[in-house]
Amino acid sequence: MMRLAGKRALITGAARGIGLAFARRYSAEGAQVAIADVDLARAKAAAKEIGAVAVEMDVTRQESIDAGFAAAVEALGGLDILVNNAALFSAAPIVEIERADFDRLMAVNVAGVLFCTQAAAKQMIAQGAGGKIINMASQAGRRGESLVAVYCATKAAVISLTQSAGLNLIAHGINVNAIAPGVVDGEHWDGVDAFFAKYEGKAPGQKKREVGEAVPLGRMGTAADLEGMAVFLASEEADYIVAQTYNVDGGNWMS
Ligand SMILES: NC(=O)c1ccc[n+]([C@@H]2O[C@H](COP(=O)([O-])OP(=O)(O)OC[C@H]3O[C@@H](n4cnc5c(N)ncnc54)[C@H](O)[C@@H]3O)[C@@H](O)[C@H]2O)c1
Repeated sequence: MMRLAGKRALITGAARGIGLAFARRYSAEGAQVAIADVDLARAKAAAKEIGAVAVEMDVTRQESIDAGFAAAVEALGGLDILVNNAALFSAAPIVEIERADFDRLMAVNVAGVLFCTQAAAKQMIAQGAGGKIINMASQAGRRGESLVAVYCATKAAVISLTQSAGLNLIAHGINVNAIAPGVVDGEHWDGVDAFFAKYEGKAPGQKKREVGEAVPLGRMGTAADLEGMAVFLASEEADYIVAQTYNVDGGNWMS
């Protein structure tokens, strides 16, 4: 059964990783998908592979958001689903955090989520048939981490934005919810592993092994582990779910 048949979805940061896995799965579930990414070459290659549309979008720039949503709406004929997935990671002890790094992460992970939500909501309200917005939060938004202050703060903000936007937009039949993954293997975590190698003196790959072994289920997650929740929250089965953040993390966090 195609659970997203006829739906039109835009996924930010979908040129690789979790967003690309969602794009592939949404397509398989019958949706038309726009892959929106700052890396246009990679977005185009991904879109070609799965029969999606590639859209250039830098979620930190309002004119790029506006142009990207307009291009996606034109190509897909409308918009029913947004996944706010694009994000950056960084790590440093408090005394080494640079203001430019803080500004960069806030611009992508927080302002990007808010203003892409706004762009999607305007389109969905104009269409008059509701919609679904799914934000990628993180277990990092549930509690702080010693070396990860800025990223954790951005993901806590995503959980808060999910609540406020969820309460505001449900009046238009738009469900806003979030997924909080734990540790998901992929290029993103290759970068995280390198940060910890630098700050904790670990061998390459060691941090990954440690976080995987610490998951109650016994291993790191994969993008595929998140797809079920991403499809569910985008489907009509989630119509009565408003402003929630779901942990999909092998048991790392309970809330
Ligand atoms: N991988 C994990 O362990 C993990 C855990 C918890 C939450 N998450 C969250 O899941 C989401 C996806 O993670 P991932 O591991 O696939 O990340 P990733 O780094 O592999 O992919 C991020 C994508 O976002 C794009 N991007 C970066 N800046 C952008 C911008 N300004 N505008 C548009 N696109 C931009 C990148 O080009 C890339 O394609 C993120 O929100 C991340 O914070 C990931």
